[in-house]
Amino acid sequence: MKLLHIVGARPQFIKASPGSRAIEKHNLKYPDCTIHELLIDTGQHYDYGMSRIFFEELNLRMPDYHLGVGSGTHGRQTGEMLKKVEEVLMEERPDVVMVYGDTNSTLASAKLHIPIAHVEAGLRSFNKALPEEINRILTDHASSILFCPTETAIRNLKNEGFNNIINEGKLIDDSFDFSLPSSHLSPVVINVGDVMYDCALFYSGLAEERHGVFAKLGLKKKEYALCTIHRAENTDRPENLRAIFEALDEIAKNGMRVVLLLHPRTRKVLEEMGLTYPNSQFTIFDPVSYLDMIALEKNGSVILTDSGGVQKEAYFFKVPCITLRDETEWIETVANGWNMVVGTDIEKILNGFNKISDQEFNSKDQNPIFGDGRAAERIGEVLLAGRILKG
Ligand code: UD1
Ligand code: UDP
Repeated sequence: MKLLHIVGARPQFIKASPGSRAIEKHNLKYPDCTIHELLIDTGQHYDYGMSRIFFEELNLRMPDYHLGVGSGTHGRQTGEMLKKVEEVLMEERPDVVMVYGDTNSTLASAKLHIPIAHVEAGLRSFNKALPEEINRILTDHASSILFCPTETAIRNLKNEGFNNIINEGKLIDDSFDFSLPSSHLSPVVINVGDVMYDCALFYSGLAEERHGVFAKLGLKKKEYALCTIHRAENTDRPENLRAIFEALDEIAKNGMRVVLLLHPRTRKVLEEMGLTYPNSQFTIFDPVSYLDMIALEKNGSVILTDSGGVQKEAYFFKVPCITLRDETEWIETVANGWNMVVGTDIEKILNGFNKISDQEFNSKDQNPIFGDGRAAERIGEVLLAGRILKG
């Protein structure tokens, strides 16, 4: 079987890595039935700290094709990707194309008559003003097989008319018969769990050894708020960005060390706006590697973010999270009391921070929302057994 991953943005390098590891394991175990893996990097993210570092650290297969698409408007970026991805797919003719999440790179294979498997399918914010929402909807509706991370994602797809739901949308277990009675004419929806949970569990122990990052950033464990901001709805609205920064500055002035790991998109906008916050308790750093990131997440006292992945990781590591957006796709983290969606109003951010800091979070029970850390293995089993790949 020939399987081709398409990645291009930071979270996709992370989401593809458990699958890549599962394939390596499978090929060692079954030398007569190996999976031939290929990887396209669209080049959407290209700074070393946003791209290459993840290949090296997570042992992700190095790109067989680097498309060098880079930054641009949505139309130009997505159009360039479609054109260049098509050329590769015509040449390679894979049995299945794996796409991840909701970025423009996710959409890059949507019109190419080769079965698409969408990992992290079914997520919805119900706000079509967000580019990610358009990418999710279009990719889901162009996919042959939809690998959902949660039961909420299954429900969302049911509501959009998908009716080929395996195992009634429950996480499939070892006794499940993987020979799916389906082909790409009838898309299959399966709850496999979350590949980011696989990744977090796999690397959690190693992250404990990342002492250097605390020294480098001058942090004491459990004595800082970790923050990331990059969503277009925040960076493209100066009033939102200004409010977030003022709230962070206020939190810092009240004595909590605030560490912001700045996405290049946000750095550019901050520079254009001339915003600076010279407060010794509030420091801005470049993005860090995945292992450093999860070390910082695990040991933070609170996380403030507009990132999808970081909200989930906060939940995985039982760190309370404040989401700086008006909605979240990961509604279970809110329902379980670990995440507060506060938007970009200064008062709401500060109230949220005070509330979440007051509560006893670390002892609170958590429901197993994101599977059991074996999502990538399941995806492999489904792909190998399903008729989708056998014609
Ligand atoms: C993209 C995704 C977003 C995801 C995020 C993950 C889309 C529409 N958005 O947003 O869903 O949450 O990735 O991080 O696909 N830049 C650099 N160096 C880089 C990459 C980007 O300087 O390596 C700067 C450029 O100025 C670029 C801007 O960041 O114009 C935005 O990059 P882009 O890939 O378009 O979107 P993200 O904001 O990264
Ligand atoms: N991440 C990282 N270094 C950083 C910030 C984030 O490794 O400095 C990781 C984070 O742990 C998570 C992923 O990047 O696994 C989330 O990606 P991002 O926030 O860019 O995108 P989103 O999840 O919002 O699409």
